[in-house]
Amino acid sequence: MKYSCKLTTLSVTQQLAVAIAKVIRPNLVLSLNGTLGAGKTTLVREILHALNIVGNIKSPTFTLVEPYTVANCNIYHFDLYRFSEPEEWFDLGFDEYFSGEFIAFIEWAEKATGLIPQLDWRIDIEFNEFNERLLTIRSLTVMGEECLTALIKNVEN
Ligand SMILES: Nc1ncnc2c1ncn2[C@@H]1O[C@H](COP(=O)(O)OP(=O)(O)O)[C@@H](O)[C@H]1O
Ligand SMILES: [Mg+2]
Repeated sequence: MKYSCKLTTLSVTQQLAVAIAKVIRPNLVLSLNGTLGAGKTTLVREILHALNIVGNIKSPTFTLVEPYTVANCNIYHFDLYRFSEPEEWFDLGFDEYFSGEFIAFIEWAEKATGLIPQLDWRIDIEFNEFNERLLTIRSLTVMGEECLTALIKNVEN
């Protein structure tokens, strides 16, 4: 299943983030792909705000992961851009984050292809020939499909 839209302004990204925050649930793993500046961190930041995480939400560019907690659910925001090899995923103990109640957002997941546990959503943001941001969400698991179905229902209403 697939959902696409144009992120024409920051407020469109914000509205989508609010809709996504309503449908995601524990143990969902979302990857975000797209060139530098596409708007991956911005989308995650707005989802975290919509989940009532207050304060400054930093990009994990340098720390590689930023952890949050909402109602006993751990939320991890990864950015693997600085990985020089996929094995860093294990070296940094990132596989150990995937237990209990958690939700994971992973920018540049392709830097650790094959090592990340099940990806439920693949989110791509790319620029078209008019320099507009095109977003596509693809579900890759049954749970991912359930959440994406709910999202599509929400945004169409
Ligand atoms: N939908 C949007 N409309 C306009 N500007 C945006 C949008 N999404 C992100 N931006 C801007 O693009 C820049 C890069 O965004 P960022 O989320 O850091 O990209 P990435 O994490 O993909 O490298 C930021 O200045 C951000 O404000
Ligand atoms: Mg980023």
